Parts: sequence; structure tokens; C-alpha cells
Amino acid sequence: MKVKNIACIGAGFVGGPTMAVIALKCPEIRVTVLDSNEHKINLWNNTVDKLPVYEPGLAEIIEEVRDKNLFFSTDIKNTIDQAEMIFMAVNTPTKIEGEGKGYAADLSNIEKCAREISKYSNSDKIVIEKSTLPVRTAEKVKQILNQSNKKIHFEVLSNPEFLAEGTAINDLFKSDRVIIGGDNTKSGRVAIEKLKKIYQRWIPSNKILITNVWSSELSKLVSNAMLAQRISSINSISSICERTGADIIEISKAVGMDKRIGPEFLKPSIGFGGSCFKKDILNLVYIARTYDLNEVADYWEGVIQINKFQTDRVSDKVEEFLNGDLSKNTISILGWAFKKNTNDSRESASIQVALNTLIKGGSIRIYDPMVSIEKIYNDINTGLQNKNFSIAKINKLMSKVKAYKGIYNTIKDSNLLIVCTEWDEFKTMDWDEIYQLMKDPKTIIDGRNILNKEDLIKRGFKIYSIGQVWKKLKFQ
Ligand code: NAD
Ligand code: UGA
Repeated sequence: MKVKNIACIGAGFVGGPTMAVIALKCPEIRVTVLDSNEHKINLWNNTVDKLPVYEPGLAEIIEEVRDKNLFFSTDIKNTIDQAEMIFMAVNTPTKIEGEGKGYAADLSNIEKCAREISKYSNSDKIVIEKSTLPVRTAEKVKQILNQSNKKIHFEVLSNPEFLAEGTAINDLFKSDRVIIGGDNTKSGRVAIEKLKKIYQRWIPSNKILITNVWSSELSKLVSNAMLAQRISSINSISSICERTGADIIEISKAVGMDKRIGPEFLKPSIGFGGSCFKKDILNLVYIARTYDLNEVADYWEGVIQINKFQTDRVSDKVEEFLNGDLSKNTISILGWAFKKNTNDSRESASIQVALNTLIKGGSIRIYDPMVSIEKIYNDINTGLQNKNFSIAKINKLMSKVKAYKGIYNTIKDSNLLIVCTEWDEFKTMDWDEIYQLMKDPKTIIDGRNILNKEDLIKRGFKIYSIGQVWKKLKFQ
């Protein structure tokens, strides 16, 4: 029996795009994306230029399938009752209190989903973990699902998502692999087959990997940990380059040409951001410590420590280049999203740069093409609150922040400009105009190594690019 009705709880960065692609590829399946956040659901149902998630190619798909076989709703009760297959794509942030605080994943959203599925189901369901979860979460999910005394069978599968923001639609269309973890029982095999049939509509069978549930859950954490590890590796080497005169771009190319290593994820940066790398590694660290594997935990925690070291190291350059006195200086931050082509700013290095600069006395001006001005102010305010500053201090610091909609009115009167996100439009800015707009010492920190350093030096700017011999440039 083919699946005809799917629900997904969580209309966020994963739930929205993944369900849009399933709806597009499987027009005979009715797909309903649920969320408890009514405002978000209204946005998904609004005009496509106001969708809550910005992803290249997403708006076009939504336009094609919305209200045909893709629906966005807050009606959890009826949608769950009618669905045969339910994806859980809710957020699983790091716990901020209780056991495992600061490390373990907060599973309260997943547990709530399981309770609601159990409560509103009146027929057998396949329940799918789409969120990123600690290994052995399915055990807990099953326990909650089976708490009700209804005679219903719940089959739990793990099907982690590997899309990256900014390229989500392409990643979903051409996944490197799809992992389905399930039990090797009769009902387990039937459920796996049903999910596999959905993906087979556009993913070649040899890319659909069937594993046990625990391997599937853990593969996701390990994939993210290993991707982040590569970034921390190259970023750690960038600091050696700056002391020795080696060039990180040349190193990255030379190392990446070894096909055992490969070229991807070796771009030096101001530090990785995003909602997942840090939280998933912290989760892995917590799991390792739970099993008394402290050396393993320390090893992975090092990836996060190097990332913080890198963001602080680059953001400290602001003070260094302005000779330690930020109070009379204006610093422009270009880019607020944690990477290009997304409106997501969670854990963006820009936030850390902004907070460090403000606290040291600087005034900041910010521009991002996709993150809303409201969100930028909110991120900074939240960051200051997390530092337990008084309201008076927060208000004073916030008065030194201005976010703009255009690049050039942002940069006006700035002494230093720091590129935090690799948006393409930053590569083709009008440097004649910027030179006129900026005040001395007209310094640029290229936190993504996307600018033409030689050209900017010729124009009279002072520029620092990560891992590219700042000391020498300083004296040119
Ligand atoms: P998100 O915060 O963008 O979206 C989650 C949504 O779930 C929110 O809109 C929230 O309101 C909703 N929600 C939470 N609990 C709910 C409940 N009980 N009932 C109804 N709605 C509820 O999160 P996201 O970025 O989509 O991530 C979701 C999961 O996918 C996380 O586990 C994350 O680690 C994983 N993941 C994320 C990405 C990514 O690129 N963002 C990629 C792969 C995997
Ligand atoms: C990452 C993974 O790439 C996805 O496979 C995974 O599904 C997702 O996390 C998740 O679980 O949430 P994402 O965080 O959206 O995706 O974006 P990435 O492209 O991985 O970039 C993460 C951060 O690393 C960004 O700040 C990016 O600028 C930075 N980065 C990336 C570098 O600094 N250097 C690189 O070479 C690559």
C-alpha cells in the first residue's frame, strides 16, 4: 500500500523545504506541514516573497504545489489523525538548564510531538525522526508513543536530514545519500520500504542507505562533527600562516588536491556558524562523556574551542587595527547571515564580532541583504542580555548600533569595515565610492577571503585577510 497522506511537525528550515520537495516529486501524496507557531504558518500561506525561510528555488516550488498537495496548518489534531506517515522536524537546541545543561540536546519538542502523535492517532502510523537527535532517542520516542492504551502500532524510523542552508533545494534534489534507519522486524521492513519508495521517486536507489536506527541517528551527528572539524582544522592553520608567511589559500588548495582529503570544507573563515554544528558537537561530547569516553569528548570539544578562538582572534583585530581605542570609531559589519544565500543568523560569527566591538566601546553599522533589520537588533539585544548586563547598559550599547538596508549608507563614515558573510554582492562593491565614504584608517578585515586584496591595497586601503600575512601587509 502506497503512502497517500504525510504530515510533518515543524515548519522551519528543514520541515518547509523538505516537505515542499516531497510534495513536488510526489504529486499524488497530500503533504501537510504543521507548526505551533501560527505566525510562521501564516507566512508560509502568504505571498511567496514573505516566506519565513529564504532558500534559492524554494519560492518557485511553493508556488507550484501549495494548496494543491502541500498545505501549511496549525491543526495538529486532525492532520495527525489523517496522516499515515509523520515526520518530526522540530528544533532540538542545546539544553540551557537541567541535566546536561550546555551540552545535551533539549528533546522537549520531540517528546511533545510524540505525546501529541500518541494522543491524536486513531490508526497505525509510521513516525519519522527528521530532527537531529542523540543516538538511542528512538527508544524514548517509542516509549512515549506507546503510553496510551490504544491498540495502535507505531513504527519509528530515523531519517536524518543533510541539507545545508542556502543550497537546500539543490541538496534535496541531489542528495549524496538518504539514510533510513529502522528495525529489522516485519513491520520495520515494511515501514522502511514505504519511505524508500518516496525517495526513490528522485533519488537513485544506490544512494538510499538502510541502517539500524542507532547508526542512522549517530551518522548525522558524526557527519556534522566531521564537517566542522575540517573548518576548525583549516582555521587553526590560518593562524600559523599569519606567523610564518605561508598562505592559507595556497595551503587549502595544496591539501585539498589530495583526493583522500578532497577540497570541500577547507575554506578559512571567521568561524563557522549556523544552528547545528556547535549544538551537534556539544551533543556528541555529552554522549561521549555519558559513556565515560572523556578523551573522545575532549577531542571533539576541541573543534568548538578552535572555532571560538578563530572568531575571537579575528574580531580582536578590530581593536588591534584601530590602535586599541574603539570609542571614536565606527565599524561596519557586512553580512549578518551565518553564510550566504540564507536569512538565518543563528550562531553567526557576526553576532560575536558585534558584541565584542560594542563592549569595547565601538559604534557599529550593519548590513545584510537577507536578514531583516529587526532580527539584527534582536540578535544583538539577546546577546547582551545573555551577558547579564543591566537594562541601562543594554540600552546604552544598543544606541550605538544601526542596521541599514543599503551597503553604501552602512559604510558611510566608517573607519573599519569587516566582511563576515561571503555574500556575492560584497565581491563587486564600488570601491571608489567606498574609499570616499570611509574615514581613516580605511581598514578592511576580510573574514571570508573573498576580496581582491592586491587591488584594495593599490587603492590605499589597509586590508587583513585570514591566514595571509597580515604582519607584512601592515608595513607595506
Ligand atoms: P527551526 O527552528 O527552523 O524549525 C523548527 C520548527 O518546529 C519551529 O517553527 C517550531 O515552532 C516548531 N515546533 C517545535 N516544537 C513543536 C511542536 N511540538 N509542535 C509544532 N511545532 C513545533 O529548526 P530547523 O532548522 O528546521 O531544524 C529542525 C531540526 O532539523 C533540528 O533538529 C536540526 O538540528 C535539524 N537540521 C537542521 C538543518 C538546517 O539546515 N537548519 C539541517 C539538517 C538538520
Ligand atoms: C550544515 C551541514 O553542511 C549540513 O549537511 C547539515 O545538514 C546542516 O549543517 C545541519 O545539520 O544543520 P549549514 O550549517 O546549513 O549545513 O551550512 P554549511 O555550508 O555547512 O556551513 C556551516 C558554517 O561553516 C557556515 O558558517 C559556513 O560559512 C562555514 N564554512 C563552511 C566555513 O567556514 N568554511 C567552509 O569551508 C565551509
